[in-house]
Amino acid sequence: MTETAHSNRPPFGREARAEFQLDPDVVHLNHGSYGAVPKRVADAQRAMLKQIEADPSQFMAMESRPRLREIAGQIGSYIGADADGIALVENATNAVNVVLRSLSFSDGDEIVVTNQTYGAVLNTVTHICSLTGAIRKDIELPYPAHNPDDVVAAYRDAIGEKTRLVVVDHITSPTALLLPIEPIIRLAHEAGALVLVDGAHAPGMIPLNVAALAPDFYTGNCHKWLCAPRGCAFLWCAEPHRANMHPLVISHGFGGGFEAEFDWVGTRDASAQFALSEAFAFRERYGDAETMAHNHQLVLKAAAMLAERWGTEVGAPAEMTGSMATIRLPLSGPADTQAALAIRARLHAEHKIQVPVNALAGAFWVRISAQIYNEMADYERLAEAGEMLAP
Ligand SMILES: Cc1ncc(COP(=O)(O)O)c(C=O)c1O
Repeated sequence: MTETAHSNRPPFGREARAEFQLDPDVVHLNHGSYGAVPKRVADAQRAMLKQIEADPSQFMAMESRPRLREIAGQIGSYIGADADGIALVENATNAVNVVLRSLSFSDGDEIVVTNQTYGAVLNTVTHICSLTGAIRKDIELPYPAHNPDDVVAAYRDAIGEKTRLVVVDHITSPTALLLPIEPIIRLAHEAGALVLVDGAHAPGMIPLNVAALAPDFYTGNCHKWLCAPRGCAFLWCAEPHRANMHPLVISHGFGGGFEAEFDWVGTRDASAQFALSEAFAFRERYGDAETMAHNHQLVLKAAAMLAERWGTEVGAPAEMTGSMATIRLPLSGPADTQAALAIRARLHAEHKIQVPVNALAGAFWVRISAQIYNEMADYERLAEAGEMLAP
């Protein structure tokens, strides 16, 4: 039976899964990578497109920008930031590119990243370094992780007078670590460096108060844990930086200020962003805090069960866990990316389980997600499949 967090709310688990478009024959344990869009949110996006098509000129010329500002307002209230500093972008990769391309770097300036920074972000930093003479400085984050203090210590050692920018994940991608960004932001600012928080996974997974965290830049995806359609993300910039930020595509708003520049980047389909209101309404039905609590508790329970069944370990303590977790698979042998991809493909083809597998710290690890449509039976299937993988 599924659990109900509140008697007036719809139940989590199997009933919630019926609200999504997910293939019922597949066990979906990878909400983290690309999200999943509820039927009513997809319907709202289609309805929006229909409305636009009824009078495209009216919508594009007159209505699009005020509506984008409304959406920015909704995001601002949700993440605790002023809407004036919010640019709607297609994804976190876009936002990271905006910041890195808009800042100026000089020869020898250091940009701090980690061995767990998202690959596309690392590529962007590498590219900017090759253009400007800045230096990419990689920190080794401890994994498996045991406590947040080790992470802060790693940043303390790396940040120095040459540091110009620290790119820090709020939640890491391959290892699902919830990082202690507050002290890291403070350390960077004390050293005179700027901070870009890559919060691709954060909105909808953990409570956010961006103003209180006070980074220079914060990006988050709404198409992951908030269940908006793909192509819905934001970049928030602190006030002093807004005048110098430019979208990747320069269009009519150039020179007109932050909002004008980002709200019009050429004719495009922003229906995913307009559908965010419906994604918020969907979430409200289940409860924001209730959803986060359910997902967090479920992932902890599932991770502990898997580690026990497999006789292995979980990659992070509860305090560094949101609604994703990593668990070591009961496999020996050389762990590399090719082999990890092959295991992932087998889990999908032979067991109908969708879950990422990564080669980390010399072993294979699965990264599980817990969303409102998951239940323990999903992870039991993974436990059995993992046991069958062993030679
Ligand atoms: C930490 C992190 N940063 C950035 C991204 C990129 O997100 P997107 O593909 O939506 O740009 C991801 C995607 O999973 C991620 O996990």
